[in-house]
Amino acid sequence: MSKAFCEYTHRFTRLTMMKKVLIVYGTRYGSTSEVAQEMSNTVREFGAHVDTINLEKGTPFPEPEEYDLVIIGSGIRTGQWKKEPLEFIEQKLESLSKTKVALFVVSGYAGNPDKVSEAQAEYLDNMPAKYPGLSPISTALIGGVFEFKKYNLVIRALVKNIVKSQIPPGEEIPEKLDFRNWDMIRDWIKQLVQ
Ligand SMILES: Cc1cc2nc3c(=O)[nH]c(=O)nc-3n(C[C@H](O)[C@H](O)[C@H](O)COP(=O)(O)O)c2cc1C
Repeated sequence: MSKAFCEYTHRFTRLTMMKKVLIVYGTRYGSTSEVAQEMSNTVREFGAHVDTINLEKGTPFPEPEEYDLVIIGSGIRTGQWKKEPLEFIEQKLESLSKTKVALFVVSGYAGNPDKVSEAQAEYLDNMPAKYPGLSPISTALIGGVFEFKKYNLVIRALVKNIVKSQIPPGEEIPEKLDFRNWDMIRDWIKQLVQ
């Protein structure tokens, strides 16, 4: 049997397993939307159906039980997920406990080697303790974006202080710092839908 045919049949077998994927997320400055978009493109490459929903105030919550996999994510600000994805988890906890769930955050600290383990613990690993019944099959800590033109003066000063330690001493802070690793994001999705 040819290698190409083997790959085709392997891929087909996987597709029949993961048919419907839901990606819901919260964002404040937009970087998590771009991450979610790349995730849904990657899911589609595997032939699965994907619904991608930016949970904003008033967005109706989808029903997790209609999906084979539910991916829930948020950008982090001052140590917090956005309110709406947390409300989604809280409201849909019972059906989420019967569904495969994966969690991700887009976080500035993910781009800082000194802060990575703290960020993983605080933003992801402690979610099941906060939401008993939630049992993610996988989590991803994704590097965030700092884009100073999007911030007011107060936030600009606060964020400059955060990122100072993430660039070599003496170097000027650029207008935009982007710690997202697109290969890592695609690889994470591939291993989830395979
Ligand atoms: C005011 C402010 C506070 C932030 N606080 C944190 C923080 O506590 N921890 C962290 O990991 N990243 C922090 N970040 C970085 C964000 O996580 C990063 O900008 C991320 O890309 C935001 O996602 P969003 O664009 O989807 O809102 C902060 C960014 C801003 C602007």
